Amino acid sequence: MTLTIVGSQLGDEGKGALVDRWGGDADVVVRYQGGDNAGHTVVEGGAEYKLSLVPSGAVRGTVGVLGNGCVVNPKTLFTEIDDLRERGLDPDVRVARRAHVITPYHRALDGIEEEVKADDDAGDEVGTTGRGIGPTYEDKAGRRGIRIADLLDPDVLREKLEYVVPQKRALVEDVYGLDLDDDDRADAFDVDALHEEFAAIGERLADEGMTVNCSDFLYRRREAGDEIVFEGAQGTHIDVDHGNYPFVTSSNPTAGAAAVGSGVGVTTVGDGEVVGIVKAYLSRVGEGPLPTELDGDADEEALADEIREKGGEFGTVTGRPRRIGWLDLPMLRHSARVSGFTGVAVNHVDVLAGLDELKVCTGYELDGETIDTVPTTTERWERCEPVYETLDTWEPFDSAAVAEAGFDALPEAAREYLEFVADEIDTPIYAVGVGPDREETVELVNPFDE
Ligand code: GDP
Ligand code: IMO
Ligand code: MG
Repeated sequence: MTLTIVGSQLGDEGKGALVDRWGGDADVVVRYQGGDNAGHTVVEGGAEYKLSLVPSGAVRGTVGVLGNGCVVNPKTLFTEIDDLRERGLDPDVRVARRAHVITPYHRALDGIEEEVKADDDAGDEVGTTGRGIGPTYEDKAGRRGIRIADLLDPDVLREKLEYVVPQKRALVEDVYGLDLDDDDRADAFDVDALHEEFAAIGERLADEGMTVNCSDFLYRRREAGDEIVFEGAQGTHIDVDHGNYPFVTSSNPTAGAAAVGSGVGVTTVGDGEVVGIVKAYLSRVGEGPLPTELDGDADEEALADEIREKGGEFGTVTGRPRRIGWLDLPMLRHSARVSGFTGVAVNHVDVLAGLDELKVCTGYELDGETIDTVPTTTERWERCEPVYETLDTWEPFDSAAVAEAGFDALPEAAREYLEFVADEIDTPIYAVGVGPDREETVELVNPFDE
């Protein structure tokens, strides 16, 4: 059996928490896309772990794999592994030899392009995490990328760097007009410095036996009876195909990518469970429209502040305050269809407790019509006026006690809210998050029991 965990909104829905919870019943946790733009939080008995690359199963000692669909910054990976070791864990992480490598020039280019977009006043900067994600996927598609396997052979590595680095230098100097001789990013475009650094990284990867042929590795693990969790990063509405282009990341967080990004067949992934992780309201870091955003007047802004503080809505990777909005059902309908959710987990239900009012967007008004899904262009989505249903609110409750007692112990209005959502998106609820800790989840269905 496989379980695929997918973000159904704009990232930060609490995917890490569910991977940790259900990953305890699995043997391998696989990231299939993205890189260290992700920030997944696992809380175990009050101890908090923030993971960008190490798959979230690590806290429970599950083998983690970074699939071929990932872009890997090996420095972040080693730092994270070393930090976890210092905290007494022993993460076993394997990296696909087909995965692409994020280098310092990718990070530099990410920053430079964002600066250029910001300077031209068109308001088209994406607000990326600055981790080099876009430029690395560009090189992958452009067939000039450097893969993990290339780090294991210093001659191949040199050949690739000698081809690509002068191109990047020319891009920065001739297109973006920067003088690299007078820039602290110059080392990022120096073939010898890059070669020395990345050949040494290759040695460590080899010494620690970390690289794998991902498809083959997972095939053998499954043949031996292992259960696999696919840990999606980011979310459906920042998917490069299905999201809010161009305010997206450069990979496919949606479930189809679990097969492509790991080399496990679509029939295997499709035969398993696909659970969409939903935040009970919306948060967004970075730019782009958000029709239900709470920013219309001072009252809305105060409400957004209240939710932001209660929910700790500050970026895991960059610390940026997250924008806040009401739950948007057209977005969830799209997500459920694109990934074929078999169930959803709705997190942060505790954060909504004690509010004076609670709204859910059921559709949009656009050009005199009511529509129930997200338009394909940013320009049209931006013009959508949400149609709201107002629901009853509930009082704060004891999360640990409710998690232990089960769904019926939730306040009645919270149950009604959850049932309303499940009904509107025609997908059953598998779990309800009532706090960040592993134990603060009301479980209705364990996908591994299905
Ligand atoms: P991810 O990127 O989807 O893994 O989510 P993040 O870790 O970036 O952000 C989710 C944040 O909410 C983290 O701080 C989690 O510990 C926390 N969290 C997860 N589920 C819940 C929940 O049900 N209630 C509350 N209050 N916090 C939660
Ligand atoms: P997790 O896995 C929320 C956003 C960035 C930016 C856009 C593109 O923790 O849910 P990128 O650096 O990927 O090129 O940035 O995508 N973004 C995320 N937002 N959660 C994430 O990951 C994100 N990863 C990228 O803020 O708007
Ligand atoms: Mg996150």
